[in-house]
Amino acid sequence: MLRTIRATQYVTALREGGSLPAIIEADDLGLYVVKFRGAGQGPLALVAELVAGEIGRTLGLNIPELVFAHVDPALGRNEPDQEIRDLLRASAGLNLALDYLPGSSMFDPAAGDKANPHTASLAVWFDAFTLNVDRTPRNANLLNWHSQLYFIDHGAALYFHHNWPDASRLADSPFADIRNHILLPWASKLEEVAAQATTRLNSSVLNKILAQIPDEWLQSSHPTPAEARAAYLDLLTRRLAASPIFTQEAIRARAHLI
Ligand SMILES: Nc1ncnc2c1ncn2[C@@H]1O[C@H](COP(=O)(O)OP(=O)(O)O)[C@@H](O)[C@H]1O
Ligand SMILES: [Mg+2]
Repeated sequence: MLRTIRATQYVTALREGGSLPAIIEADDLGLYVVKFRGAGQGPLALVAELVAGEIGRTLGLNIPELVFAHVDPALGRNEPDQEIRDLLRASAGLNLALDYLPGSSMFDPAAGDKANPHTASLAVWFDAFTLNVDRTPRNANLLNWHSQLYFIDHGAALYFHHNWPDASRLADSPFADIRNHILLPWASKLEEVAAQATTRLNSSVLNKILAQIPDEWLQSSHPTPAEARAAYLDLLTRRLAASPIFTQEAIRARAHLI
């Protein structure tokens, strides 16, 4: 179960992406990176962060601890920047936050960073499974911290949830975008990790993850939050069964690279 913290201080905005995440201090005196519900991408980006992030953790990837972050409407009252004040006001209530990794740096192959074959293969399988396009050399979303790789920013994964009538089509997608994955060159154990991953994930594991999505993040797509969770479960279960399709696509894309 995810913990819930309360944001006590807005520290600074992280302006790299468009969604204006921020470093905040919390009531447990920890520092966190908050992804705000009121950002342009809307609450579904938080659903993707939570669901994809916990799937990655289940698979054995390093993901910073995820917590629910309660934002009080008063938090941003004295922020000089109008855009940040508006964002905080629109985000009152539950948001998603990650443990802040101080001193981490972005993974950069051009600077000589390398990945081990097991982690790289697992990451490629995970991003193909969750349909995550945000792990490219331009936008790695991969942090080096204490000599280990940490995976962040899954807000654009599971993009089928932006268009449920069409979602079914993506359940067995080969996901050709995998050719742009930053770790593909090192992913030499795809068959092996696919076999491990498909035994670790099952509907019971996925159900436990989906059960943690706050109802208030699931308001728009289905008549009830329970129906929305059932739709995610159905789609992810079918995607799991399609592992041979997207695993073969990743192997093929890698063969073109090397
Ligand atoms: N847990 C974290 N610890 C340290 N830095 C982080 C963490 N999460 C994000 N960052 C930094 O903030 C930047 C933006 O966060 P990210 O989740 O990628 O949001 P977006 O790309 O949507 O703006 C990252 O590129 C990274 O430099
Ligand atoms: Mg990012």
